[in-house]
Amino acid sequence: MPVQVVILVGGKGTRLRPLTATRPKPNVPIVDRPFLAYALEWVADHGMTDVVLCCGFKSDAMVEEFGDGSRFGVSITWVFEPEPRGTAGGLKMAEEHLDDRFLLLNGDVLTDMDLTAQVAAHERSGARGTLALVPVADPSAYGLVRLNDDSSVAGFLEKPEPDEIDTDLISAGAYVLERDVLDMIPPGREVSIEREVWPRLVGDGLFGFVHRDAYWMDIGTPERYIQAVADVLSGAVETRVLRRLRGGPVAPGAVVDPAATVAPDALVEEGSRVAAGAVIGSGTVVGAGAIVGANAVLERSILLPGAIVESDARLRDFVAGERSRVPAGTTVTGPLLVADDETLAAAGESLVAG
Ligand code: GDD
Ligand code: MG
Repeated sequence: MPVQVVILVGGKGTRLRPLTATRPKPNVPIVDRPFLAYALEWVADHGMTDVVLCCGFKSDAMVEEFGDGSRFGVSITWVFEPEPRGTAGGLKMAEEHLDDRFLLLNGDVLTDMDLTAQVAAHERSGARGTLALVPVADPSAYGLVRLNDDSSVAGFLEKPEPDEIDTDLISAGAYVLERDVLDMIPPGREVSIEREVWPRLVGDGLFGFVHRDAYWMDIGTPERYIQAVADVLSGAVETRVLRRLRGGPVAPGAVVDPAATVAPDALVEEGSRVAAGAVIGSGTVVGAGAIVGANAVLERSILLPGAIVESDARLRDFVAGERSRVPAGTTVTGPLLVADDETLAAAGESLVAG
């Protein structure tokens, strides 16, 4: 039976401001589609099309963007929290919609982990919960997981202290769960699944499944946002965007001067214009209706729809909000984000992110 999917999208996304000042994180564009579209298309590609979204913060904009989910090949049921209930409290609110077994996902992760294999492992072991695990260089910002030889979880430590780190495996924010786990979550208050549920399930049916070769990234900071866009464009992560980019980096309907250069792992969207001598480098997106002036050089930079970069600007690791403007001759070495409708106040100057 296909497994139902619950996605937690109730976080505030504060570290991605100012992009998340005007839109919830799931709506933030990554290359050519909103961030949450990657999760929806990923689960749909694993045959999982029944999706419950648990949300609170700025949910109107999400409902407008994702609607009934049909545009992404899924069917969405919406669950709204009266106030942030935490990762387990949000799930508890969805209880009436849930089947006997379901997949719970953190909504702020870009990944191509093999969910089908993880569900199969969960069924084989007879677990009550199976956590997706990935190795990372620095586990301190995540949930650290110690495994026994039979893949049962020996210990779970959320945001460990440096002296507690003795493995590189972290919880990747994808969990296969049996419905009875919901009985461990008290209703009506804020509950953290990481701090109140996983530790109590250790030794009582909690298993891990290691995804060794998958791409995985928690998109929380400007740096990681820029990296994620570059990784989608280069194909480091498997997404539906790759199929679209087979047609080349310049979309039909974009006007690119023959004396401009566009890297193969960039995207120049429909309705945008790139002037003579401009360089659209690797990991760069020129959004719909955006304009790049003569001799401007862009590396790993993202122009959201309608942004304007004037001539001779040099931008690296830069994100321009919708309809924002970068004056002529400005040099930026980011990571730096400029808000929707703002003008970068540094005509002809050099800015280096601190
Ligand atoms: N509905 C709802 N309500 N969702 C919430 C709430 C809430 O009150 N609080 C957080 N979320 C959502 C966030 O939007 C995000 O998608 C997910 O739950 C995880 O919350 P984060 O705040 O991003 O947690 P984290 O990144 O510090 O840590 C979590 O993710 C790591 C992997 O990225 C933990 O699950 C760690 O154990 C894990 O390693
Ligand atoms: Mg997170």
